[in-house]
Amino acid sequence: MTNQQQRRFEADIAGERAIEPQDWMPDDYRKTLIRQIGQHAHSEVVGMLPEGNWLTRAPSLRRKAILLAKVQDEAGHGLYLYSAAETLGCAREDLYRKMLEGRMKYSSIFNYPTLNWADIPVIGWLVDGAAIVNQVALCRTSYGPYARAMVKICKEESFHQRQGFEACVALANGSDEQRRMLQDAINRFWWPSLMMFGPDDARSPNSARSLAWKIKRHTNDELRQRFVDNTVPQVEALGMTVPDPDLAWDAASGHYRFGEINWTELNEVIAGRGICNHERLAAKRRAWDKGAWVREAALAWAEKQQRTDAA
Ligand code: ACO
Repeated sequence: MTNQQQRRFEADIAGERAIEPQDWMPDDYRKTLIRQIGQHAHSEVVGMLPEGNWLTRAPSLRRKAILLAKVQDEAGHGLYLYSAAETLGCAREDLYRKMLEGRMKYSSIFNYPTLNWADIPVIGWLVDGAAIVNQVALCRTSYGPYARAMVKICKEESFHQRQGFEACVALANGSDEQRRMLQDAINRFWWPSLMMFGPDDARSPNSARSLAWKIKRHTNDELRQRFVDNTVPQVEALGMTVPDPDLAWDAASGHYRFGEINWTELNEVIAGRGICNHERLAAKRRAWDKGAWVREAALAWAEKQQRTDAA
């Protein structure tokens, strides 16, 4: 590294010019991006599991077609993100193995079970809604390939959020039993959705540096507050309630105040001790093992093509 390279990197960050794969960048900037983009990619592909469980049980052909499209979109998001991570010089297979071995994280939210149909609309609305708040901010992240991947991902997440809310409206306008199912799903997914934004700012070891490098554009607490402010009126529009006795509108600040998050629960889930951590990783390991023949066949085909091209 020369002083000139370092100065140029800093000037690009200060001047809001995207850092591109061929540009010089500090080792820790590269490592932070590989960690965050890799974890983000893992979240997309693990996130297919709780919803995938309901593909055969969707209540109508229309809901099934929408859910199928959504789950396929998540696979696509994972692929863009693994590709973006690879531009930083890491191998997708290596990242994936680290996730399978529990050495890389994925979002805590996907370690909760989907118990009834109402969970699927609520995931679309709350979980994808939380993901959008985080990801719209990432459209301006300083690393070019990550920022560009986010633009398309956000458009698709927006469809996911809207289809989820539309399906919640159908339940809210349905029978008493459907309204009870909806409230139950909101009760179970509300707090885990707030946890998606990570630990509070005082306990977020990566934030200061990621904000300085403009990898993150807002703190965890800022984005969490934005999500709460966006979402509480939507809960009310559905005629449902937020499972938080401390929730209150604060006219002075123009924000909702909300209760204390159960940080012990978040730490436990992140540490691999959530309700479904074991099941999720076991499903991904099974899929990896079952797909070995596809990877071997693709490699053999590529080698054959190379030999043909060279001849
Ligand atoms: N689930 C799992 N791990 C988490 C979570 C969470 N909800 N929140 C924080 N963590 C982890 C961090 O990855 C970090 O671990 P590490 O240092 O071993 O990598 C640790 O907890 C401390 O947190 P922070 O210092 O706040 O970490 P960071 O600055 O990376 O912020 C955040 C966390 C906000 C999740 C950030 O990484 C991010 O914006 N990632 C991109 C978005 C993303 O991954 N979304 C996934 C869900 S979206 C979906 O629909 C698939």
